[in-house]
Amino acid sequence: MPLCASEDLADLGQAVCFDVEEFGRKAPAFAVRYEGQVRAFLNRCAHVPAEMDWQPGQFWDADRRYIVCSIHGALYEPTTGRCVSGPCRGARLLPIRTAEQGGQVCWYPDERIQPLSNPSHP
Ligand code: FES
Repeated sequence: MPLCASEDLADLGQAVCFDVEEFGRKAPAFAVRYEGQVRAFLNRCAHVPAEMDWQPGQFWDADRRYIVCSIHGALYEPTTGRCVSGPCRGARLLPIRTAEQGGQVCWYPDERIQPLSNPSHP
């Protein structure tokens, strides 16, 4: 599934947010670039199932080292989605597979995460 242009994701920059369907329900997701690689996850904290960005598309902590949940401060490794600090230490964000080719970033559905079946409906 096309996600965005490569240039839309700067290293440690603003995320590109998108919606997917998880087990038939709409779920928010995001992609960031970290050390040159695109990483995408469901936008759902492993502590409480809530969206994590403190401003839309802002997921980095002050040091731009970890993905941070703005609610209680859980820190997640951007390479793995594993929580390294906070109330859900050891838990993980749900990753979404991505690939980048020819200046385009794509994501791949799996048995759990699918494209929205009706993107025009909330
Ligand atoms: S909801 Fe994310 S750390 Fe509590």
